[in-house]
Amino acid sequence: EKGGYDHFMLKEIHEQPKAIIDTYRGRMLPDEGIIRMSGIDNHMNKFLNAERIIIVACGTSWHAGLVGEYLIEDKARIPVEVEYASEFRYRNPIITSKDVVIAISQSGETADTLAAIKLAKSKGAFVFGICNVVGSSIARETDAGAYTHAGPEIGVASTKAFTTQITVLTLIALKLASKKGEISKSELRTFLQKMQLIPKKVEDLLKIDEKVKEIAAVYKDAPNCLYLGRGFNFPVALEGALKLKEISYIHAEGYPAAEMKHGPIALIDENMPIFVIATNKGHYEKVVSNIQEIKSRAGKIIAIVTEGDTQVKDIADHVIEIPETEEALTPLLTTIPFQLLSYHIAVMLNKNVDQPRNLAKSVTVE
Ligand code: F6R
Repeated sequence: EKGGYDHFMLKEIHEQPKAIIDTYRGRMLPDEGIIRMSGIDNHMNKFLNAERIIIVACGTSWHAGLVGEYLIEDKARIPVEVEYASEFRYRNPIITSKDVVIAISQSGETADTLAAIKLAKSKGAFVFGICNVVGSSIARETDAGAYTHAGPEIGVASTKAFTTQITVLTLIALKLASKKGEISKSELRTFLQKMQLIPKKVEDLLKIDEKVKEIAAVYKDAPNCLYLGRGFNFPVALEGALKLKEISYIHAEGYPAAEMKHGPIALIDENMPIFVIATNKGHYEKVVSNIQEIKSRAGKIIAIVTEGDTQVKDIADHVIEIPETEEALTPLLTTIPFQLLSYHIAVMLNKNVDQPRNLAKSVTVE
């Protein structure tokens, strides 16, 4: 049942190339520059007339929502807000029929997300779901939606659900961008062609497992870790920290790299491992100066860089290389080493990887 892997989580990490293909298959035609998503096509006016899009979700799905915000605002130029479903539903939010709400949920059963959807519907908003589990409560409650065809996710720590949610959000952002004339047909074609190369790049990245294991062995006894990223990779930093907390029970925090100097920098000393996403686009020089600030305080730096990087390599204690791609697609790659790292640390610490303490796969109570 675990397909030869020791844990479901590792199996699911390795399923990501296929899961991403299954998610975009039939939806994008790269060479023609076409994206077909019936849930969007059938309600295009709702999206085009939306004054804003509100994304509601919890946990990892909320992190995917943040990537979605960056994608939809950057590509389609529609204002987006991302909210924890649990906050949204209880804070008397302003919602009108001009809002489109996108609810993201792997299980489709998360109580707070479901309640947020019901609230949004009662105020007249159009609600679109991004779910993995077919026929789930959230899939049924929403006005339209798109499934992430990730297949069953058994490990409590979400992995392939996250990357396939991002895949769907990327398609939505590009589809809206193209419909609004924010990107040309040829730009769309080029982007989709790069997207089609992602599964193979994820597959290549999964081969760095041994290197990640070595890094895991060095830092597995750290009591605290920081994860930093900027732009599209800020949510990946949050997600990296969540994965480590969940399965290894090591305290970790994700931050936008530039926020470090507003507080967390006080934590940095020679015992603090700091995982930094420093890919070559996305404010590279700014991240390099953040890394220098860490270095001058003796923090240990583990950096995710783009293949061929030299600048960060000179400063960091360890580097993990990811293949070159479009900046907006980098979260699909930078996430992978963090998933593997958490996995290996949890295994080395003898934790229950697939069923961490206190956590449930579907949170059906608020
Ligand atoms: C993290 C994790 C949780 C879920 C959250 C939302 O690994 O599994 O944070 O992401 O409970 O669950 P869904 O997506 O099913 O609504």
